Amino acid sequence: MEIRKIGVIGAGQMGSGIAQVAAQSGYQVVLMDVEELSLRKGIEAIRRSLERFLRKEKITQEEADAALGRIETTLNPADFADCDLVVEAIVENESVKAGLFQTLDKVVKPEAVFASNTSSIPITKLASYTSRPERFIGMHFMNPVPLMKLVEVIRGYKTSDEVTKVVMATAEKMGKVPVEVNDFPGFVSNRVLIPMLNEAIQAVMEGVATPEAIDTVMKLGMNHPMGPLTLADFIGLDTVLAIMEVLHEGFGDSKYRPSPLLKKMVQAGLLGRKSGQGFYKYDEKGNKIG
Ligand code: CAA
Ligand code: NAD
Repeated sequence: MEIRKIGVIGAGQMGSGIAQVAAQSGYQVVLMDVEELSLRKGIEAIRRSLERFLRKEKITQEEADAALGRIETTLNPADFADCDLVVEAIVENESVKAGLFQTLDKVVKPEAVFASNTSSIPITKLASYTSRPERFIGMHFMNPVPLMKLVEVIRGYKTSDEVTKVVMATAEKMGKVPVEVNDFPGFVSNRVLIPMLNEAIQAVMEGVATPEAIDTVMKLGMNHPMGPLTLADFIGLDTVLAIMEVLHEGFGDSKYRPSPLLKKMVQAGLLGRKSGQGFYKYDEKGNKIG
């Protein structure tokens, strides 16, 4: 099984990053979203990231142009028909992902592999919405995709050995380090990370300290590159909440209860960096202000 053409669905922060690293690694890429505006923003993010690599002389102008030239955009799932691998990176919502995979199953060639970049939704469950659960796998990239080395590769109950091998090799070709894990709520990365972010949010709610103070404690005290509230804003508070809800339901354990403050902020549309406000405020380029 050879992977040559990769479809990426969702042109948000993760999908645009996945499309970028795939194109930089020589794959033909089709990038889809439901909104033309999201596609434009996604391509703009790719352009900005390539420019940063260019400025630091990590890539040449020819390489940047070639990568952009390998990405086509579409609003139509039928354009994925001849893709060898389709990576889904849309909103963290099981029913929305289920509807998408049911459509893809009908239009994408049967031998193609489906991968989800979900942060927490069971891969076995998502695979069950298709007729190819043995060719379905979790391919969990980390944010920001162009910089982060890890890809958590999650095997569903029926994922075949061959598909796992091909996806591990594809992640390596993209310059990443794949780590194979089993399908449990939150996998490894988010089972460990997200409860810590939730706890930091709970500490804000209880008035233990300001967001700035909590972030400084974790940055200077634990050498984390970003404090937990900056990181929660960076991931997206809607995504953090969705992951906590999957952990809470999946384990049935009250220790995973989402912080009421997190719920309230998401209800108010404060989603973090992508909406311009979360624990901090951001300009339209995503830089912290104030
Ligand atoms: N593309 C290209 N280059 C980029 C970039 C991008 N998208 N983003 C940042 N850079 C470059 C910058 O230009 C800068 O380069 P120089 O050092 O040469 O100037 C460098 O990367 C560092 O960037 P910054 O100075 O802006 O900021 P920083 O030093 O804080 O580093 C960071 C940024 C690498 C993101 C770092 O803060 C970090 O590692 N943060 C934690 C990220 C993390 O934990 N990610 C996992 C999130 S959880 C997840 O992904 C799973 C999930 O399901 C929720
Ligand atoms: P995002 O909100 O930045 O982007 C989601 C994109 O999907 C949007 O552009 C939206 O228009 C599009 N979309 C929604 N429904 C669609 C559909 N039916 N078909 C096509 N496009 C659709 O979200 P994100 O942060 O990029 O997260 C995407 C996925 O990646 C989620 O499953 C998330 O859990 C996971 N993830 C996120 C992070 C992170 O740090 N944000 C890290 C790893 C994994």
